[in-house]
Amino acid sequence: MLISVLFLYHTLFGLSKAIAIKSPYPYNDISKVGTQQDLFKYLDGSAPYVSFPVNTSISKEVPEGCKMTQVQLFARHGERYPSTSAGKRILKIWNKLSNFTGRFNGTLSFLNDDYTFFLNPENLELLVSENNTLNPANPYLGSLDAERHAEEFLAQYSDLLTKGGNLTVFASSSRRVHDTAQDFIQALGNSYNVDLQILSEDPSQGANSLTPAYACGTWNESEGSEIIDQFDTNYLVDIADRINSNNIGLNFTQTDAFNLFNWCAFENNVRGYSDMCNIFTMDELLKYSYYTDLESYYSDFEGCSVCRAIGSIPFNASVNLLTSKEEDLDQKVWISFTHDTDIINYLSAVGLFDNGKPLTGKHMPFFEHIFRKAWIAPCGARLYTQKFSCNGDSTTQNSTQSFVRYVLNDVVIPMENCNSGPGFSCELSDFVNYAQQRMDGIDYVQQCNSTQYSNETALTFYWDYKTKNYTAPLLLQ
Ligand SMILES: *[C@@H]1O[C@H](CO)[C@@H](O)[C@H](O)[C@H]1NC(C)=O
Ligand SMILES: *[C@@H]1O[C@H](CO)[C@@H](O)[C@H](O)[C@H]1NC(C)=O
Ligand SMILES: *[C@@H]1O[C@H](CO)[C@@H](O)[C@H](O)[C@H]1NC(C)=O
Ligand SMILES: *[C@@H]1O[C@H](CO)[C@@H](O)[C@H](O)[C@H]1NC(C)=O
Ligand SMILES: *[C@@H]1O[C@H](CO)[C@@H](O)[C@H](O)[C@H]1NC(C)=O
Ligand SMILES: *[C@@H]1O[C@H](CO)[C@@H](O)[C@H](O)[C@H]1NC(C)=O
Ligand SMILES: *[C@@H]1O[C@H](CO)[C@@H](O)[C@H](O)[C@H]1NC(C)=O
Ligand SMILES: *[C@@H]1O[C@H](CO)[C@@H](O)[C@H](O)[C@H]1NC(C)=O
Ligand SMILES: *[C@@H]1O[C@H](CO)[C@@H](O)[C@H](O)[C@H]1NC(C)=O
Ligand SMILES: *[C@@H]1O[C@H](CO)[C@@H](O)[C@H](O)[C@H]1NC(C)=O
Ligand SMILES: *[C@@H]1O[C@H](CO)[C@@H](O)[C@H](O)[C@H]1NC(C)=O
Ligand SMILES: *[C@@H]1O[C@H](CO)[C@@H](O)[C@H](O)[C@H]1NC(C)=O
Repeated sequence: MLISVLFLYHTLFGLSKAIAIKSPYPYNDISKVGTQQDLFKYLDGSAPYVSFPVNTSISKEVPEGCKMTQVQLFARHGERYPSTSAGKRILKIWNKLSNFTGRFNGTLSFLNDDYTFFLNPENLELLVSENNTLNPANPYLGSLDAERHAEEFLAQYSDLLTKGGNLTVFASSSRRVHDTAQDFIQALGNSYNVDLQILSEDPSQGANSLTPAYACGTWNESEGSEIIDQFDTNYLVDIADRINSNNIGLNFTQTDAFNLFNWCAFENNVRGYSDMCNIFTMDELLKYSYYTDLESYYSDFEGCSVCRAIGSIPFNASVNLLTSKEEDLDQKVWISFTHDTDIINYLSAVGLFDNGKPLTGKHMPFFEHIFRKAWIAPCGARLYTQKFSCNGDSTTQNSTQSFVRYVLNDVVIPMENCNSGPGFSCELSDFVNYAQQRMDGIDYVQQCNSTQYSNETALTFYWDYKTKNYTAPLLLQ
């Protein structure tokens, strides 16, 4: 149905006139698009992509005197619609708002205008793209994010690719993960013959997967709940009370208040802004953000007893790629797309954000709080492992040496105890020693009891994709 709407064109075309046009899109205030970026780092990784918010100020370009020899990319799908369950919780709030017969007051007064709800059940779980966005001027489409990312990737790493050559890319079988990979590949252009291998997310894929958590039978969803439950949730009561006292009869609950943060995040993905974000104070955003870090820390990171074992699957594969002889590998670029939790499991094995201080539910630590989910795994998250060789120190016998470092969401994150190489990198043999220590005593198959699902006990697809040809059917999950 065509709805007549007002588009404020001044942002787009420098005109300050409002022009009425026919559009299939509901009312959007273009002047608000893209103005809430500062909030994304508090929103549990559900909001659009942001670079890692604390810049170490180290250049991510290859250091002087060095040559990039391999790059691995472990990436999350782009900006998405909520999951079916998160979508239902938001819809419940919308029903409550729709049933309210009074005029909305205070921060909810935007609902008195011709506001259109941003969720449609048929889009749940999907990547946000030009095909399903609510706003043609939305800069946060997951598809666009993947395209921009591919362009940035080419600008930095195209020397590792061969024009006219083959490149194989890997994705898990979730539709939005696959679609992100496709959009990334499309933006690489026609100079490369790119093949996409699709790894099943089914537990039967065992360890040979981009989602090895699914075959971890011992993973305990409730682990750490006694710590998480200690966190003071009065801020949610405050939000609900504030809204209810301004809108008598609305009856928002603490749970509604909690789910409104997701509303704010996901509406930004879909519309490019969300008036709902204005209901929170900065202190409330900080508390919510810490709570989501607590949840993630105990379900997918160091607070989870099997997560280091789950993450050892991609970590060990990464080390094996880094230590392979160049002539033994078909490519220098290893690109994989998966989910936020898989990236967090992986980093749990790597130890990049492990300061040995478990997050507490009793209070909010500020200086010891280095694990921040929304900084690590926003939509479109990208973890690069760079390997470069540099001219050796003349005092050693080595003419060249190899070094490794991580670049997460555009920022170089040095390893805390190994960063004396060029660009704060870690010398390869030191890195390998570190990795071996980190994985000492770790055994995915045993700790996860994974043989109940699968006999695949290691990640082999980077080495056997040519003969195995992974073509799992896509799933909406
Ligand atoms: C981080 O700092 C470096 C060095 O100043 C700069 O080149 C880079 O653009 C910054 N990155 C981000 C994401 O702000
Ligand atoms: C809103 O009203 C509909 C029917 O008009 C009812 O089915 C639904 O339960 C109400 N929702 C809430 C949250 O009160
Ligand atoms: C969007 O639609 C176009 C044209 O129908 C199609 O080629 C493309 O694959 C779609 N993209 C997504 C992400 O569904
Ligand atoms: C590229 O892949 C095709 C099969 O898809 C194969 O026939 C060809 O030999 C490959 N080229 C190189 C240089 O490996
Ligand atoms: C899972 O974690 C909860 C909360 O810590 C604990 O009570 C429960 O015993 C654990 N379950 C198993 C099977 O370890
Ligand atoms: C609207 O909110 C103001 C405070 O922001 C309050 O004084 C007033 O009573 C509210 N009106 C209604 C109808 O709830
Ligand atoms: C809020 O609760 C009151 C009292 O239980 C009830 O009369 C009213 O219908 C509720 N309002 C909504 C919007 O559900
Ligand atoms: C890592 O991979 C190597 C080579 O495949 C294998 O021998 C080793 O057992 C693996 N280690 C872990 C912790 O998975
Ligand atoms: C030379 O480099 C290799 C591999 O990086 C390392 O194992 C070895 O210890 C180095 N030798 C010297 C003399 O630095
Ligand atoms: C491991 O899986 C088997 C099923 O194959 C089950 O009988 C056993 O209880 C599981 N062990 C643990 C520790 O979960
Ligand atoms: C693992 O392999 C054994 C022996 O081939 C087979 O009997 C069993 O069904 C397999 N288990 C799974 C989960 O595939
Ligand atoms: C891999 O499978 C796909 C889909 O079935 C097929 O199109 C492709 O030709 C296969 N590639 C190889 C190298 O077998």
